Amino acid sequence: MSPNENSEPTSNDSKQRVTTRTLQRMRRDGKAISMLTAYDYPTAEALDEAGVDILLVGDSLAMVVQGHETTLPVTMDQMLYHAEMVGRATRRALVVVDLPFPEGQLEITRSVEASARVLKETRCHAVKLEGGAEQANRIKAIVTAGVPVMAHVGLRPQSVHVEGGYRIQRKEDQLIADALAAEKAGAFAVLIECVPSNIGKAINDAVSVPTIGIGAGPDVTGQVLVTHDMIGFNSGYTPKFVRQFSDVRGAIKTAATNYCESIRNGKFPDNKESFE
Ligand code: KIV
Repeated sequence: MSPNENSEPTSNDSKQRVTTRTLQRMRRDGKAISMLTAYDYPTAEALDEAGVDILLVGDSLAMVVQGHETTLPVTMDQMLYHAEMVGRATRRALVVVDLPFPEGQLEITRSVEASARVLKETRCHAVKLEGGAEQANRIKAIVTAGVPVMAHVGLRPQSVHVEGGYRIQRKEDQLIADALAAEKAGAFAVLIECVPSNIGKAINDAVSVPTIGIGAGPDVTGQVLVTHDMIGFNSGYTPKFVRQFSDVRGAIKTAATNYCESIRNGKFPDNKESFE
């Protein structure tokens, strides 16, 4: 099949695959990009059907699925296991996979190999890498190998121990330099985490690729949240930038309580739920 310029999807086209070019066009046309995390088949399928533009198999799975305190413990093999399910479940969204610690910190060839595994072993389309200016050579090498890269600037959860915690990032000049260096190295988009709104806007104005904010205010090209936070399926601390659109943890607890009670009262199963 020959490439067809006119076959690219628009933001609301529910049939065609979102690509890096679609996202670039959305930025140019002033259309907001939606992004959420996904780690398993049924959730990815539901989010994709809902029209989310980008799904991220985030290393946040270490925290929200595996129950760790940081993103550091999740391994590359575990990321690939989850990415394969998400890639297979998704028809429309562009699927990005995080390079987990330390795949994006060791030798550049290791990052290129890990990124190539994402395209080879899952049906996902791109990787995300924490860092800006100091990661420029690595971003360039991965893109040169044929793997699209989303850069991640601002708060970098994989550096939590260097930073001594999760803090709002306020060094505007450095943050802009990071985003510009990532763009110059070939990143197709820049994720910006936990910066004041005016810095989110300044970064967005400085680069020409799409910017995706999480705690970066409204003046960026798109927004991302961790799905478990967004649907109320988390335990413990909820950051200020999260809006909870549902109470899935509450719904699960209510359903499980009613199930247990029905068994104890002898009301489950009834005749309709039993074989003759
Ligand atoms: O792993 C993750 O969920 C992230 C968030 C910033 C979206 O990188």
